Amino acid sequence: MKFFLTTAIDYVNGRPHLGHAYEKVLADAIARHQRSMGAEVFFLTGVDEHGQKVEQSARAAGVPPQSFCDEMTVHFQEAWRRLGVAYDGFARTTNAAHKAHVQEALRKLYDQGDLIFKEHEGFYSVRQEQFVTEKDMVDGKWPEIYGEVVQMREPNYFFRLEKYREAWVAELSRRKDWIVPEFRHKELQRALERPLEDLCISRPRSRLEWGIPLPFDERFVTYVWFDALLNYTSFGAGRWPADVQVIGKDILVPAHGVYWPLMLSALGWPLPRRLLVHGWWQLEGRKMSKSTGTAVDPLALAEVYGADAFRYYLLREMSIGQDADFSVEGFVRRYNSDLGNDLGNLVNRSVSMVRRYLGGVVPEGPVDGAWDAAAEQAHSEYLAAMENFETHRALEAVWKFIRLANKFVEEQAPWKLAKDEKRREELTRVLRCLVLAVLRISVLIEAFMPETAQKMRNQLGVCEKVNLACWERLRVAGQVGEPSPLFPRVEAGSGSSI
Ligand code: MSP
Repeated sequence: MKFFLTTAIDYVNGRPHLGHAYEKVLADAIARHQRSMGAEVFFLTGVDEHGQKVEQSARAAGVPPQSFCDEMTVHFQEAWRRLGVAYDGFARTTNAAHKAHVQEALRKLYDQGDLIFKEHEGFYSVRQEQFVTEKDMVDGKWPEIYGEVVQMREPNYFFRLEKYREAWVAELSRRKDWIVPEFRHKELQRALERPLEDLCISRPRSRLEWGIPLPFDERFVTYVWFDALLNYTSFGAGRWPADVQVIGKDILVPAHGVYWPLMLSALGWPLPRRLLVHGWWQLEGRKMSKSTGTAVDPLALAEVYGADAFRYYLLREMSIGQDADFSVEGFVRRYNSDLGNDLGNLVNRSVSMVRRYLGGVVPEGPVDGAWDAAAEQAHSEYLAAMENFETHRALEAVWKFIRLANKFVEEQAPWKLAKDEKRREELTRVLRCLVLAVLRISVLIEAFMPETAQKMRNQLGVCEKVNLACWERLRVAGQVGEPSPLFPRVEAGSGSSI
């Protein structure tokens, strides 16, 4: 089975922040989950390098745009490496093959009469790099997302969106589960209810140099969205359509819900199978962004607490599709309780008890049936949640099982059983159950916390490769390794400068 997933490609006019990191970590968890299930995965992410914002930032930094992009791209790649984001393909829109792909697509649309040349006068949002209309105003004002809005008149090339709208509306009504979460489906349907204006897809080179030249008119470069969206098919060549495209809610309407499917329809290419639309990370109720000075540096947090703890917090705290509020205090709380007390403690006490009471060796033998049923339930709840990319629910199911395992230790009290030689078999069975639980948990958390899963298996002395595909066959027997705390305690407040 093959599985192709993509993320949005980030603008390189600043360094990666928590919002970018969340999306990549989310996609990485889905990719790892699929690999663990046995799928052949291709995970594509990347950067969006063209456009006015990047050109301006490069100018402000006093370097040519390409050098600026090269340098910024390294920050993104380095961030993903440190957060354990294991992508298979990295799209850069300045790549020569990508440019050729965009030009080919433009040529096709031009030849079939889908692009028209005309003079346009209207309001233009500098921040969004697009023409806007009075319909976009809220209470007579331009919303903050548009930044400065100026009056402008210029000739440009336009894509005739309206030509393909009705067919897309009909198709969308057949694809009820095209968007996760479901409530966004209606939002998109509403956006498609009325006729669409032509989409401006070019910029005169006199105003913007930093883009891909139109193959049929060198006086113009391609407008950012047209260039950026096609990264999915250029870097995913031979793999398209994607099984899932992960994006933030701000780029569903119109970019991925209107422009993209209409571009694909016009090109005669298939639509992506699903879109996963996540919410925003906010800081005290405001969207985190570079331009408002409310960005959290994801690496600073991961440095203090470890990449896995950071990944856990993001994937556990945000209910998929909703917004979430970031707080260092909330992070430290989860770190100490869910990770330190629940998971860390379970692993540590399990391995330590095997060493103390069984000389470090778990003998082969049966496990408790009721206990097996609890593991099966966690497993099936996890799978059901991951079907819909609900990482918070998947993690909740696993943590219910972890807490049950800790309760099991308290109830069975191996330290009491160990005092009675006649109860040796019982003691062995309890510890075998526990060690197997820890192994199963390592498999269930692997997609979210890959390093921790590996450390757990090292402590258990399990060397062979285990994954979700061999869930039924997971067994433990043999020599355990050295126990060592997975999540050393951190005092609240020590990360508040982040
Ligand atoms: N370059 C375009 C996307 C082109 S995709 C063909 C873009 N770039 S972006 O850098 O502004 O955003 C990249 C992704 O990060 C988007 O999916 C966006 O929703 C996400 N996030 C940016 N800030 C965010 C938060 N504060 N919270 C969560 N994700 C948000 O748009």
